[in-house]
Amino acid sequence: MKIAVAGTGYVGLVTGVCLASKGHDVTCVDIDEEKVEKMKKGISPIYEPGLDELMQQSMDHLQFTTDYGAAYKDAEAIFIGVGTPEKQDGSANLAYVIKVVKQIAQSVERDCVVVVKSTVPIGTNDKVESYLRERLVHDVKVDIASNPEFLSQGTAVLDTLHASRIVIGVEDEKAGEVLKNVYEKFDAPIIVTDRRSAEMIKYASNDFLALKISYVNEIANLCEIVGADIEDVTKGMGYDARIGKRFLNSGIGYGGSCFPKDTKALSWLASFNDNEIKTIRAAIDVNENQKLKLVKKAKKYYEDFTDLNVAVLGLTFKPGTDDLREAASLVNVPILLEDGAHVKAWDPVGAENFKKLYPKKVDYCSSIEETLKDADICFIFTEWDEVKKFDIKKYEQLMRKPIVLDGRNCYSLDAFADTKIVYNSIGRKTVNSELM
Ligand code: UDX
Repeated sequence: MKIAVAGTGYVGLVTGVCLASKGHDVTCVDIDEEKVEKMKKGISPIYEPGLDELMQQSMDHLQFTTDYGAAYKDAEAIFIGVGTPEKQDGSANLAYVIKVVKQIAQSVERDCVVVVKSTVPIGTNDKVESYLRERLVHDVKVDIASNPEFLSQGTAVLDTLHASRIVIGVEDEKAGEVLKNVYEKFDAPIIVTDRRSAEMIKYASNDFLALKISYVNEIANLCEIVGADIEDVTKGMGYDARIGKRFLNSGIGYGGSCFPKDTKALSWLASFNDNEIKTIRAAIDVNENQKLKLVKKAKKYYEDFTDLNVAVLGLTFKPGTDDLREAASLVNVPILLEDGAHVKAWDPVGAENFKKLYPKKVDYCSSIEETLKDADICFIFTEWDEVKKFDIKKYEQLMRKPIVLDGRNCYSLDAFADTKIVYNSIGRKTVNSELM
């Protein structure tokens, strides 16, 4: 099938490459010439495990262009995968989606289905339909379908090729058939709904996961107070299939391009309709506080951070990505710097992006050892494998004062038993607390 994809970010590019890998002829459109040139050579502009390889294997079925007219005019399905960033008031900014819809209206010369993959507020597909139909230049029938994306960064390719489900929201049976053909070779359950329900499935799913994390973080905070252990608690909870084992990891809160944005968007949507979605509001508030957890813990050991050597391990919002959006590091590092700390940071792929924001104030290190050298305290913000596999004895050997604040529970408590390291994690007892 001839397919066009608008936008080559995480959603657009991964979708395009995965569809091409199944034999569809896919043209990916982006406004950025430089990015397009790179992709033509089989190089992905984003860091995503497995994407470069799949792109190179699928090059026979892949094209990249800035010429949207040529890409859209005879495509049978046009996927929209552009960003819907958060606006000041928390609502989703649809400017990029609308711009693409306008270009599609000017370009299409055959009947086709426009598939909205970007996360958009409920009712957007209806608006897209009337906006597009009013502007169509040629006499063609264009249907709109909602097909939300559930991929996670770091596992985006796997999540797309082996999707937990494919949701298709349509108002027209034929449009549904076109999409079923698109996904014919994907081994995943297909759920066909009306468009508004499909749009809601995306928000309800993401916000439920965010709520689950905030819930577990509140339980973790309580565990610290009452002397329980969150790892044991969640293990005990997870055996109940109704709760499930996944997404029960406590830490310094969720970040990324989806949960923070989608929780705010649903909350905004509810309040705009004179409604209140209290659970999601609570998840947002809990998460904002949770992100400050390590700085608050650090105050137990040091009244202020002036001239303190601080080691920061991990800058990205999670491992497996170079994305910093809504990462805990972005909240904590500025506080440390403002308080006069000397910050040394390590991240295997996120340091370059962080450097764009803090080019001089932070010392970027190429190894964990270098970061820890002479540090008075260490903050762990991301559970990179390198951190999890790090020989913990080195914290004691390298740091001036071995105080490790772990926002991602990378280590077992037992591992610190025979050390002089103060190990303070989330929802668990502090090991060697008597040493400080
Ligand atoms: C998320 C959804 O998982 C995905 O389905 C959707 O399409 C986009 O948003 P993503 O943001 O890439 O994906 O990452 P995810 O793995 O869900 O993690 C988001 C944040 O939650 C990270 O900061 C992560 O550290 C945090 N998290 C996740 C926890 O704190 N605890 C957990 O148990 C799981």
